Amino acid sequence: MTNSIIITNKINKFNKNITVSGDKSLSIRWVLFSSLASGISKASNLLISEDVAAAISAVKKLGIKVQLKNNFCKIHGKGINGYNYRKGIIIDAKNSGTLGRLILGLLINSPFPIKLIGDKSLSKRDFKRISDPLTKFGANFKLKNKKNLPLIIKGSSHLKSITYYENKGSAQCKSAVIFGALRSNGTTLIKAQKSRNHTELLCKYLKLPVYVKKNKLHDYVKVNKFRKFKSFNYKIPSDISSSAFFIILTVLCPNSKLIIKNVNINPSRTGVIKILKMMGIKIFLENKKNYKGEFVADIEVISPKKIKPINCPPKLNSGTIDEFLVIFLVAAKADGVSYFKNLEELDQKESPRLKWGAKILNEMGIKTITTKSSIKIFGNPNLNVNKKIIIKNYLKDHRVFMTSVIAALSFGGSWKIYDKDSIKTSFPDFLRIINSLKKND
Ligand code: S3P
Repeated sequence: MTNSIIITNKINKFNKNITVSGDKSLSIRWVLFSSLASGISKASNLLISEDVAAAISAVKKLGIKVQLKNNFCKIHGKGINGYNYRKGIIIDAKNSGTLGRLILGLLINSPFPIKLIGDKSLSKRDFKRISDPLTKFGANFKLKNKKNLPLIIKGSSHLKSITYYENKGSAQCKSAVIFGALRSNGTTLIKAQKSRNHTELLCKYLKLPVYVKKNKLHDYVKVNKFRKFKSFNYKIPSDISSSAFFIILTVLCPNSKLIIKNVNINPSRTGVIKILKMMGIKIFLENKKNYKGEFVADIEVISPKKIKPINCPPKLNSGTIDEFLVIFLVAAKADGVSYFKNLEELDQKESPRLKWGAKILNEMGIKTITTKSSIKIFGNPNLNVNKKIIIKNYLKDHRVFMTSVIAALSFGGSWKIYDKDSIKTSFPDFLRIINSLKKND
C-alpha cells in the first residue's frame, strides 16, 4: 500500500461546519492524571492517535487497567502510589515528546530502573532538559549521548523539593517538574517562561496543591506533595493545533467560510488566532464557555481579500509553537515581507521545523531568509504554483505532512507528499475532514 499522497488540484471554495478531534495535550494529560486518581475516571472525545495510544500503553505497563471503546475511555486509577513498579519495565513513547517527558516526572519514585525508548524522531530530541531538573529531586538517569533516548531512569524514595527556572518556554519541562514536585517532600518553586498551562489548570480543577502567580513574562508555580485525589470525568475539547490547518486552508481559499465547533481556546494556545487577526483575517470566537477551567468556543473564519504581512511579536511564540509551519503559508500569500524571530525552539520539535518551513516555501517559489532562529518571508499575493513538488525524508513529522497538504490545496502545483501515516500520531482524521470540505452538499 502506498504511503504517499498526490495532490494536483486546488480545493474549490467551501462554506462548512466541522468538528476536529480531541486535544492532544489534554488527552495525554488526562491519561496520566487519571492513572494516579483513586477510582475510575472516564473521558469522552479522547484523541485516538498513536501518541495517546502510547500514553495508554505506558500506564498499562505500570499496572493500570484501561478500557477504550472508540473515543470513550475508562482508567482504573489506584491512587498516587498505585503504579506496579517491577524489574524490566520498558516504556515506548513512540513519537510523543509530551508523553516521554511528562511521564518521567511521575517515574521519579520508581525503585527499579525503567527504560524509556522512542521512535527515530523522538530519539533525536533533547531529554537532558528533563533529566537535569528531575535529577535535582533525587532521581538518577543514564541517557544515550548524555542527552537522548533511550534513557534509563531510577527513582528514589527520598525525593526533595527543588527550585527550577524553566527558561525555554517549554510546557513539557514545566509539567514534568510539576509532576516530580507532586511526589516530593517540601515545596518546589518554579519560575517558568510562558507556555501552555493545561497541567496547572487540571491540578487546580483536581484541587492539588499547585499555586500559580503570573506576571507579564513569567509564571511562578509553587507545588507541594500530594496525597490523594478522586477520579474525575472529562470531555476533551477539540484541538486548536489540529483546527489551525483548516482555519488556514479557509484563509488561503478565496470566498470560503468555516466554523469549527467546541475548540479549546486556552489563551496559552491561541497565538494562531492573534497572529491571523494581526494579518487582517476575520476570525471570531462564538459560544465561549468555561469547561473545568479550560475555555472552549466555536471558531468562525472567513477568507480575506487581502493578507497583511506581520512582524510577529515574539511574546506570541509560545502560544503558537505548533502552528508556525502552517502560519508561514499565510505569510507566503501576504502583501509584503513577514518576519518571525526568537524561534530556536522550532528546531526542537519532531523535525527541524524552521528548515522545513523554509523548504516548503522555497519549493513554491517564495523567497525566504532564515537564520538559526528566524525567518523572513517575502509574500506574493498572486502566488500560483505550477511545478512538481516532492516532500519526503522529513522524519515523518505530522505537521510537515499536513502543512504540505494545505499548501498543495491552496497554491496549486503537482505535489507528491510521502509518509501519509505520520498523521496517525496527532490527527488520523485529517484527510477525512479535508475530503469532507471538497464535497458540495
Ligand atoms: C506540548 C508542549 C509543546 C508542544 C507540544 C505539546 C505539551 O512542547 O510543542 O506539541 O502538551 O505540553 P514544548 O514543551 O517542548 O514546547
